[in-house]
Amino acid sequence: MRVVITGASSGIGEALALEYRRRDPQAVIGLIARREASLARVASALGGPVHCLCADVGDRAALAAVAQRFVDAAGVPDIVIANAGISGGTRTGEPGDGEVFERIVQTNVMGLVDTFAAFLPLMREARGARLVGIASVAGVRGLPGAGGYSASKAAAIAYLESLRVELRGSGVRVVTIAPGFIRTPMTASNPYPMPFLTDVDVFAARACDAIAAGRSFVVIPWQMAWVARLLRVLPDGLFDRAFARAPRKARVATGSSEPR
Ligand SMILES: NC(=O)c1ccc[n+]([C@@H]2O[C@H](COP(=O)([O-])OP(=O)(O)OC[C@H]3O[C@@H](n4cnc5c(N)ncnc54)[C@H](OP(=O)(O)O)[C@@H]3O)[C@@H](O)[C@H]2O)c1
Repeated sequence: MRVVITGASSGIGEALALEYRRRDPQAVIGLIARREASLARVASALGGPVHCLCADVGDRAALAAVAQRFVDAAGVPDIVIANAGISGGTRTGEPGDGEVFERIVQTNVMGLVDTFAAFLPLMREARGARLVGIASVAGVRGLPGAGGYSASKAAAIAYLESLRVELRGSGVRVVTIAPGFIRTPMTASNPYPMPFLTDVDVFAARACDAIAAGRSFVVIPWQMAWVARLLRVLPDGLFDRAFARAPRKARVATGSSEPR
């Protein structure tokens, strides 16, 4: 098996790489992220055949180059997981928040599109191959204080659906995974309660099962799938009342932290 994962230097991406190694000691795993030292740490924890492919998913040419490098060295991947993403609070009209909003959308939407665009032309012959996008339950409704993140994940969900239907019958399946709250560096400083917070290794095992089964859309953990279903059908008036006072993610444009 050959698997490529973006955002593989921490959190969900790292856990997915470890889960694939656990399932197949001979799997060839390509790890994409910006921090070279963190990728090297993950690679040494993985052992076995592994390729560190240092690249920014915001750099289309760099993505195309690492995709070609992986295919030349290991062959066409069976699974490409576009997982790299950033999060952060944004408030429309506040100084600096436009730039933060743009970075979030660029990474979470265009990063995903460009990851697939780099690999898909090389994968057309690969029957049974999977393109996997990591979206979020935050893309199901617009969450206050997280307009950039919610908009990016809603766009990701819609884009992945378009791609799924476009590729129907081609032999390449598109799997959309919407995590609820998963214990990773991204959620470590969230200042609000996180219902059904799930350990990242538990998430990774369920995600690998969903990918193997070729599920079109899955929410993990399952309890959040019910929350997502409820959110989707909640009338606007009720949704607005329920979320008006919900605690919000801190703005990152204040300079106190980077989006992550
Ligand atoms: N944790 C949750 O509760 C949760 C819930 C819903 C959705 N998600 C989604 O799950 C994905 C992974 O998040 P996580 O929780 O594992 O967060 P994380 O631990 O902060 O990991 C994010 C990963 O994305 C990489 N990344 C960020 N910007 C990048 C860029 N421009 N180019 C290449 N790599 C980039 C980071 O690596 P470098 O910094 O080394 O580049 C890191 O490996 C994200 O898409 C996130 O939105 C997470």
